[in-house]
Amino acid sequence: MKVDGTPYRSIWLADDGYTVCIIDQTKLPHRFETTELLSVEDAAIAIRDMLVRGAPLIGATGAYGLALAMRADPGDANLEMAFKTLHNTRPTASNLAWALNDVRDILTPLQESEREAAAYNRASEICEDDVATCRAIGEHGADVIRKIWEDNGKPGRINILTHCNAGWLATVDWGTALSAIYVAHEMDIPVHVWADETRPRNQGASLTAWELSKHGVPHTVIADNAGGHLMQHSQVDLCIVGTDRTTAAGDVCNKVGTYLKALAAHDNNVPFYVALPHSTIDWGIHDGIRDVPIETRSPKEITHISGKTNTGDVKTVQITPDDTQALNIAFDVTPARYITGLITERGLCDASENGLLGLYPECAS
Ligand code: MRU
Repeated sequence: MKVDGTPYRSIWLADDGYTVCIIDQTKLPHRFETTELLSVEDAAIAIRDMLVRGAPLIGATGAYGLALAMRADPGDANLEMAFKTLHNTRPTASNLAWALNDVRDILTPLQESEREAAAYNRASEICEDDVATCRAIGEHGADVIRKIWEDNGKPGRINILTHCNAGWLATVDWGTALSAIYVAHEMDIPVHVWADETRPRNQGASLTAWELSKHGVPHTVIADNAGGHLMQHSQVDLCIVGTDRTTAAGDVCNKVGTYLKALAAHDNNVPFYVALPHSTIDWGIHDGIRDVPIETRSPKEITHISGKTNTGDVKTVQITPDDTQALNIAFDVTPARYITGLITERGLCDASENGLLGLYPECAS
């Protein structure tokens, strides 16, 4: 997607063919800065400290992290160490483990001399696959938006609520939930996005709003708690969110607060869709509430908040009393029964085992 007229992806290789370049997402929306990853440690820090985030982008960065490790030392011990270092960065998104396993399985049988080139090659394929996958999700998702808009009598705007950031910054390009919105916008469907601010890290207020404004998509940031009220007053035509891990039975783990939006949508008969690529499905888990590992992060993300001051400086301030404890749960699980449909690169399905297996029959165990 374009940033001030220049096309960008969220991750790319420098001209030297091995340095990995990313957008430092911790600086957005107030500063657009890119940074270089030169080692597996750099890649691990970028994932852990959320310079890159979003399930598909974490996977792509993990794959390039293994390539950087193989450049330094292609031996078996280093491959295992790099795998563990990257795997331990963030626990919830399936895509990281998926990409790391995929690259390691390719590298393990190879001679050491072949591993660096093979790792870069596979990381690049994972990125290209993600771009094509996300575009396809966007096309299927835009059909859903168009149908709801037509069924509603083509009003002057169709209001779509989204939570967190499931846009091109969360993937390699296009996004998942936002890809549907970008494609609908290309089709001249008058989309308007309600972007949940998504406390505590504000990915909605800072990243979704930034992406949409750079692309010229009408949007309004709302407090996380406002969605239910808007739904009660017919101000939301549908919700589309992304996911970090979807179980084989169709339960969806996504940024904390997604579940409450799904409950409000259910109570108000608002369609609730989840957009996802194949790499987000965890075929080994059926019960999302019991079995998805939920990341907890620093309480400081709750007790403090960052923003731009009147003088243009970016400052972090404390918003809680000095002696108040905070608990920072980063994700929650929305049971399949609250989900109207899953939007994948292969089309739409029910949020159920049969629905998913209908689209991915090769994954039947
Ligand atoms: O903690 P984050 O910013 O990595 O969380 C991201 C999300 O929850 C996204 O909604 C999810 O990764 C889907 S992105 C295509």
